[in-house]
Amino acid sequence: MSILVTGGAGFIGANFVRDWCADSDEPLVTLDALTYAGNPENFAGMAGADQHRLVQGEIGDAALVRALLTEHQPRAIVHFAAESHVDRSIHGADAFIQTNILGTYQLLEAARAHWQGLGDAARAQFRFVHVSTDEVYGSLLPGAPAFTEEHRYEPNSPYSASKAASDHLVRAWHHTYGLPVVTTNCSNNYGPYQFPEKLIPLMIVNALAGKALPVYGDGQQVRDWLYVADHCRAIRRVLEAGTIGEVYNIGGWNEQPNLAIVTQICALLDEWRPRPDGTSHTSLISFVKDRPGHDRRYAIDARKIERALGWRPSETFGTGLGKTVRWYLDHPEWVAHVQTGAYRAWVATQYDKR
Ligand code: NAD
Ligand code: DAU
Repeated sequence: MSILVTGGAGFIGANFVRDWCADSDEPLVTLDALTYAGNPENFAGMAGADQHRLVQGEIGDAALVRALLTEHQPRAIVHFAAESHVDRSIHGADAFIQTNILGTYQLLEAARAHWQGLGDAARAQFRFVHVSTDEVYGSLLPGAPAFTEEHRYEPNSPYSASKAASDHLVRAWHHTYGLPVVTTNCSNNYGPYQFPEKLIPLMIVNALAGKALPVYGDGQQVRDWLYVADHCRAIRRVLEAGTIGEVYNIGGWNEQPNLAIVTQICALLDEWRPRPDGTSHTSLISFVKDRPGHDRRYAIDARKIERALGWRPSETFGTGLGKTVRWYLDHPEWVAHVQTGAYRAWVATQYDKR
């Protein structure tokens, strides 16, 4: 028995792989293209490294995926691989269309061929878990009820549109061909190994370097934040007991405006890594031009997964943010290594002249 994880060298994928290998001895194969967001160093020092194999390759490489499925005969595919950053999708959507839509299509086709060739018992056991986002539901007005699994799809960015398209493909492969899929739609994750282009790690590494903390618009956009280990536990639970064809929303019951998040990071750093001149890190906050089409509010109603599968987040935002800031303080080498040429070029495109 084994599982195949796509995008396992990225932020959530790597946390999933690490937790899986620490908790179970079932082999796990990671298929990852190692784009700028995929980092083999995310597996450094992990427990159970012997049961893990990393294969560099594209989910859209049908021959490679076929070969991996034939060789490893996984009982499940957990599909994380994606282009995941909204701002990058606004600057250029090509990679998002290629990976999130066409790549998912190729992966579904390979999974279908494999699944159809299995014997009865293995066929019944096989699962395709598709990891998606709350952004497919669009933006909420203040006070509007949180997103349930029945909320209509209203994606607003090239990224969320590409994820919405992938969700529809996954749904169709179940309805048309019977592929045993389960889809999850999760809110904003934070925690160790997150690439410092996303809000929380960007603010931590910029603050530590004494750089500006760029808050888009008025900073009052609301997101629901979930500690990554809780998300990974939810996916394991869905893999274990989720109903085929169902969708599960996953969230932290933790809505907060961006400015409040940045302020809390500054408060932790003021305590743990005070600035030499004694001023607060909040003095680095800089309001910059807003993201085009910026969704104002996301909120997840996570009652279905709690009712059906008994999952609830175990981390509070206070404990989760403390662990996260501490992790970045304790891993300066990881931060230095991801700040390669590719990362710096992106920062220039995104923030110079903003
Ligand atoms: P990430 O950008 O950190 O990692 C993505 C990984 O996918 C990288 O390792 C990258 O190398 C790999 N990848 C990209 N294109 C590939 C391809 N063509 N073939 C194989 N591998 C490829 O992303 P993340 O934040 O870890 O998100 C993982 C998944 O979870 C994504 O599907 C994302 O949409 C979803 N999600 C993310 C969040 C969040 O807050 N980060 C929330 C909800 C859902
Ligand atoms: O909701 C789930 C989604 O959360 C995932 O599907 C995406 O993969 C993930 O990237 C994340 O999308 P967001 O756009 O919400 O995350 P990001 O960290 O880019 O931004 C969070 C909020 O912070 C958003 O309102 C924009 C704002 N922001 C972001 C950056 C990078 C800033 O104000 N300044 C910044 O420099």
